[in-house]
Amino acid sequence: MRFPASFLDELKSRLPVSDVVRTRVKLTKAGREWRGLSPFNAERTPSFFVNDQKMAWFDHSAGKNGNIFDFVMETEGLSFPEAVARLAEQAGIALPRVSPEAEAREKERASLYDVLELAAKYFAAELAGRAGAKTRDYLAERGLKPDIQAEFRLGYAEPEKYALRDHLAGKGVGVEAMIEAGLLIHGEDIAVPYDRFRDRLMFPIADRRGRVIAFGGRALGADVQPKYLNSPETTLFHKGAILYNHDKARQAAHERGAVIAVEGYVDAISMVAAGFPNTVAPLGTALTPEQCALLWKMAEEPVLCFDGDRAGRKAAYRTIDMALPLIGVGRSLRFALLPEGQDPDDLARGGGKAAVAELLAAALPLVDLIWQRESEGEPLTTPERRAGFERRLANLCLEIRDETLRRHYQAEFRGRLAALFAPAQPAPFGRPQRFPGAGRGGRGEPGPQTYLLQPLQIGPSLARSPLLRAKSTGGFAREALILLIFLNHPQLLDAYHEPLTELELYSSDARALRQKLLDLWADHHRDADELAAEIERAGLGAARAKLESLVGHASLWTVAPAAADSDAEESLKQALALHRKMRALHTELVLAQKALAGDASESNLARLKSVQEQLSGLAGTEAVIEGFGAASGRQSGIL
Ligand code: UTP
Ligand code: MN
Repeated sequence: MRFPASFLDELKSRLPVSDVVRTRVKLTKAGREWRGLSPFNAERTPSFFVNDQKMAWFDHSAGKNGNIFDFVMETEGLSFPEAVARLAEQAGIALPRVSPEAEAREKERASLYDVLELAAKYFAAELAGRAGAKTRDYLAERGLKPDIQAEFRLGYAEPEKYALRDHLAGKGVGVEAMIEAGLLIHGEDIAVPYDRFRDRLMFPIADRRGRVIAFGGRALGADVQPKYLNSPETTLFHKGAILYNHDKARQAAHERGAVIAVEGYVDAISMVAAGFPNTVAPLGTALTPEQCALLWKMAEEPVLCFDGDRAGRKAAYRTIDMALPLIGVGRSLRFALLPEGQDPDDLARGGGKAAVAELLAAALPLVDLIWQRESEGEPLTTPERRAGFERRLANLCLEIRDETLRRHYQAEFRGRLAALFAPAQPAPFGRPQRFPGAGRGGRGEPGPQTYLLQPLQIGPSLARSPLLRAKSTGGFAREALILLIFLNHPQLLDAYHEPLTELELYSSDARALRQKLLDLWADHHRDADELAAEIERAGLGAARAKLESLVGHASLWTVAPAAADSDAEESLKQALALHRKMRALHTELVLAQKALAGDASESNLARLKSVQEQLSGLAGTEAVIEGFGAASGRQSGIL
């Protein structure tokens, strides 16, 4: 049942929140507010506040707040319509009369939910049954465990054309309702409507209250088009206004004060499995303003994750234009750009929680993404180009409707532009550019603008500097760590021999040991001591000792043979993810160096610096593995 907004407003204005709350909580006046003991938690010091002006209550102990309806729903366990009815009675006003048509529409909506729920149950049962065997294998291969399958109510639609239709008909559902629910393909030239979803892995899509309103179906064969088939728009399902996993993510997002948006269903599920229950996804389209508004109800600065390829970067860039008119104080976005060729699913499964946390921590604020987008096109080597750059930034600022925030964006860009275009000394390359003001002391006049206009020479000393030395940041130590984990915990090879095979290794010792290790594993060696003996016998003892000295294994308890396998596995996953990321960055570093040598523009310099910063950022990341920081610190002289 839907109530007219005017009716709900009237109820709110007739019933001060304090009146409603007082039936359960003893309130005392505190300034302009009321306070009392939380109705949700046993407590001695009151942390529950009511503000009648704001028409709201706040419970700091439970982290909840809301209006009168929320209060009654939360404390009395009522549904929204029930809460409205109960409060209307308290206020002494009659419920609005509903037209028969409106009531009929409501009934129809209600029965559509039932139809979709029946379908979800059917698909889930099919997945669990004989017909679902192939799909269960597929899910296992993708690392989606049964518990997470159940949590997301995954299912299977069998290939047969009328399977769902017949099943639902058997439950008394009419074909019209099935069509309304988006479950059948129908049309003028289709005599007998048939199942929309056939031979697909099914992802039920729920509304924010957890009711199934649509499905996404993934093809199981690589050559089946489309890869994902979604329900059509129906009275219940408006793609652009729905977020996948919204119902479950809501609570977690409130608790953490953060929400994450990824691109795909599987991405969202893998993120949840990796320990980020506050993850949602749009449904195959770019994020809409409506979805953005939903995100902002959950957190002030949602983090949007984009794939690390060109398409992903472009999608992130497009989001800027959608979001600028909507942002405000306490309403912005951050952007996490994944390593090239990875989506959040790959990252979460490959690198686990640590890798995802690292990605999220490095998310760029909106202002940085705008700067990056506008500066990365053409090199800013002429006054015209610099003016164009400035103009673009100014115009983008005008898109921001929140006036205060717009001013701050304008000021930020002015500052950055001034720093970028400041007449620079022909300064040594590595020295950081100062903000204007900071470096404008009495010492000498600014030199000519050679810095901007002359191609930059990479001299021999620069080439030797850590900025350009690809392998300077711990790559050897990390690969040594990875091999030692395998040497001490050979059982891990069962699950991780493939990543090990594919790993690009820097040192020949590491490569030799890997070869031996994989051979021994293929010969069914699973015992660390046996393995050590074999490696000695093969003349690789010295290589192993070298690796150990690189890592400083004594302080690395998770790697030592005595460590639990699960701890070793955690370390292994982290190290693998970091290693892959570092290799990708080294590739990027070479490209950035080339670009800079060819064209000494600000943006190429910024690109190189950014890669270098990311690399040096990575060097410290293994501090999360206890003891590694100290060990790698000691070794850094030789790396
Ligand atoms: P992707 O093509 O990136 O696939 O689509 P994915 O999510 O990584 O899926 P897997 O890992 O291959 O199984 C991202 C999202 O775009 C929508 C879906 O919502 C999907 O999750 N999509 C994609 C469609 O709606 N239709 C398509 O044909 C493809
Ligand atoms: Mn994927």
